[in-house]
Amino acid sequence: MKNTRGRVKVALIILLVLLSVFLIFLSALLIRTYTFSAAGNQDSSYFDRSHAAFAANFSESEGKLLLDNLKGALRIRTVSRNATDFDISALEEFGDFLPKVFPTVFSSNLVQHEIIAKYSHLFTVRGSNDSLQPFMLIAHLDVVPALEEEWDVPPFSAEEKDGYLYGRGSMDDKSSLMGILQGLEFLLKRGYIPCRSFYIGIGHDEEVGGNNGAKNIAKVLQSRGVKLSFLLDEGSVILDGVIPGLNKHAAIIATSEKGFATVNLNVSVDTGHSSMPPKETSIGILAAAVSKLEKNPMPRMFGQGPERGLFEHLSPQLHFPLNMVMANLWLFSPIVSRMMEKKQSTNTIVRTTTAVTEFHAGIKANVIAPFARATVNFRLHPVHTLDQLLQQIQHIISDERVKIEVLQHYPSLPMSSYDDTSFGYQVIKGTIQNIFPEVAVAPGLCIANTDTRHYQKLTKELYRFIPMILKQEDVTRVHGVNERISVKNYEEIVKFYFRLLQNSDLSSLPSSRIPSCDL
Ligand SMILES: *[C@@H]1O[C@H](CO)[C@@H](O)[C@H](O)[C@H]1NC(C)=O
Ligand SMILES: *[C@@H]1O[C@H](CO)[C@@H](O)[C@H](O)[C@H]1NC(C)=O
Ligand SMILES: [Zn+2]
Repeated sequence: MKNTRGRVKVALIILLVLLSVFLIFLSALLIRTYTFSAAGNQDSSYFDRSHAAFAANFSESEGKLLLDNLKGALRIRTVSRNATDFDISALEEFGDFLPKVFPTVFSSNLVQHEIIAKYSHLFTVRGSNDSLQPFMLIAHLDVVPALEEEWDVPPFSAEEKDGYLYGRGSMDDKSSLMGILQGLEFLLKRGYIPCRSFYIGIGHDEEVGGNNGAKNIAKVLQSRGVKLSFLLDEGSVILDGVIPGLNKHAAIIATSEKGFATVNLNVSVDTGHSSMPPKETSIGILAAAVSKLEKNPMPRMFGQGPERGLFEHLSPQLHFPLNMVMANLWLFSPIVSRMMEKKQSTNTIVRTTTAVTEFHAGIKANVIAPFARATVNFRLHPVHTLDQLLQQIQHIISDERVKIEVLQHYPSLPMSSYDDTSFGYQVIKGTIQNIFPEVAVAPGLCIANTDTRHYQKLTKELYRFIPMILKQEDVTRVHGVNERISVKNYEEIVKFYFRLLQNSDLSSLPSSRIPSCDL
């Protein structure tokens, strides 16, 4: 009897202890959830209307002009097929086209224009205050090929249909290129004199690696001793309905970029007649290796890279309990990454992806294949190194007959800052909020590769963002069929750059709401 009472007592105490631990734990989760709500919703007060001298309002004729200029750019077939196969006459035509549509930019004594590596462009815009570190906007003028017969309209016709402008390059990347220069053209026309100097770099071979264009633009700036405050490139957008549980559009400013590794797998065996085959052929050995790689995805790394910032920043916009989960990825990332890896589009931010892209073997129907080779393309998660990857490949395949060699490798790009004191990030974010007040803004990861990597020596603050609004179904239009931009969205893109150039005139953050020179 006494004994039982004792046991009940102990059980009660244990229960109480567990309950308090649970309550403390729950409050920790909730505190984190709701402090994010407060922090993540910062307004764009540094960038309120009062200091932008020129409001982002365009007249009807300007609205028509900006659209006509974009159409002109889309009609020039600046296609890059590979590093040596591009259309020289189209690149030259593009060079002749720019001064025609941006006469003020090309005649202003504030702007210096240079041709780099024959077809790329560098604009230097001199600000009035030399003590401010310049920034840079970059874009590219080349496009990938288009399979004409699959499109609803000819890909280089720039046809307008149902409020959209169709054309190869309308998303990648001519609306950004033209938007930047159009924004500058309109500003200069209004008599704008920037305080902070800036550069505009337009590469001509981004789609095939940027080793002529962007690389040489960066070299020229390095040789002049230029250091940048920040750089803004393509590579991320405003997502409409892509993020589950979010009822708003999400503008993702990519602060890092996935890496890239192409790996060859080779198997060589003694050749012989197929009438007396060995137990395993080179083809069988390699096929088994490739199959193991596909069955064993690289480890989940979700929550260790910039994707953590993405969900933490978006968490205030989500409903309970999704907000608690996203604000507490330190705890929930294993569950969240298991959910995310089910879809291709979200799996790519959870881990290093594996794509077997080539398989070559065999020479004749009755000869044992002397060798077999497969190529595998990995896109590295930002915290995943090449050494780790190679060890994992070796471990997964576990067959010494399969030789592993790296063909090409770019490490992922380091994470740029996105806190309250990060000038570039805050200027970009504030400008998004000026032009799209209803949109949630968050840092994120660029899953493709851009020209940005060529500029790493000029600044650590590298951002990728274009205010282009994309639905899930639009994602495949980039490099795919029926690439298009809405007429309304393109005008917003021009407004964004028009405003961004002015917002960058602030001397510092966050106390300074005053421009760094008299306007
Ligand atoms: C793998 O095969 C490729 C193409 O046949 C060859 O160039 C390369 O040298 C081979 N590598 C090894 C390690 O055998
Ligand atoms: C230029 O910018 C610096 C740094 O913000 C500031 O101290 C200085 O007053 C500015 N110069 C002029 C002429 O406005
Ligand atoms: Zn691009």
